[in-house]
Amino acid sequence: MPLDKTSQLDKLSRLDRLDPLVSPLSKAVAGVIRPGPVEDALHGTWLGHPLHPALAQLPIGCFVSATVLDLLGERTAAGKLGALGMASATPAALAGATDWSHSNPGTQRTGLVHALLNSAALLAWGSSLLRRRRGGGALLGALGTSLLGASASVGGHLAYRQGLGANADTDITGPTDWTDAGEDDLVTDRPTLRTVAGTQVLLVRTEDGIQALADRCSHQSGPLHEGTVHDGCVTCPWHGSTFRLSDGHVEHGPSTHPQPAFEVRRAAGRLEVRLRG
Ligand code: FES
Repeated sequence: MPLDKTSQLDKLSRLDRLDPLVSPLSKAVAGVIRPGPVEDALHGTWLGHPLHPALAQLPIGCFVSATVLDLLGERTAAGKLGALGMASATPAALAGATDWSHSNPGTQRTGLVHALLNSAALLAWGSSLLRRRRGGGALLGALGTSLLGASASVGGHLAYRQGLGANADTDITGPTDWTDAGEDDLVTDRPTLRTVAGTQVLLVRTEDGIQALADRCSHQSGPLHEGTVHDGCVTCPWHGSTFRLSDGHVEHGPSTHPQPAFEVRRAAGRLEVRLRG
């Protein structure tokens, strides 16, 4: 019977034996990389996509190429590429750790395995570079690259199966026509949830009028109506993504995707909304 690799990887998110490690490590990362411009830059809010996968290309490319060069007997060039891989792994790891520290428990368990495999790969490559001075190290480099391959598989699972970094709101496509959203009885600055034609919509009365966003956070589906409203923005209660109420713009990550926004109008004492075009 063929091994179902996807279901094996799914088990990682339920591995609660990892929790005693996940919790303190997550707090440690969040304590070092504080909310602000650096954290947002590492999430990739400025890019509109998570930064980590883009940064990871360089170390992966370097280590794989170095192993190929080792196989071809080009040991000096392999060593240089290995060293470049080590140097370029740091920003990739920082961006990944920042995303990881602001994610759901199941994602964090899987992410920890990804990080441990990466750490083992770097350890192997670091040892390989030291050994090269004495003429060896190629096998350790190949081991590091193999571990990196296993880690990349877990990373792919995080992104494509668990949706870390994906936009959780891609299915929100309407309503595109004006649709009833209930009575106009909103209290200023109090987030209110309404279901409009099957879509959960967050409504907030502000001093600039009534604003409406999709209620499901684009990061990992947190309920924005349970969040806090301040300065014309709403902050998600789960991991702190902050969106501008007027148009869904991402003010702070971890989300890198704007929140779908709706136009609002009053009609006979009731509210109507439609998705912004
Ligand atoms: S679900 Fe993560 S910030 Fe909203």
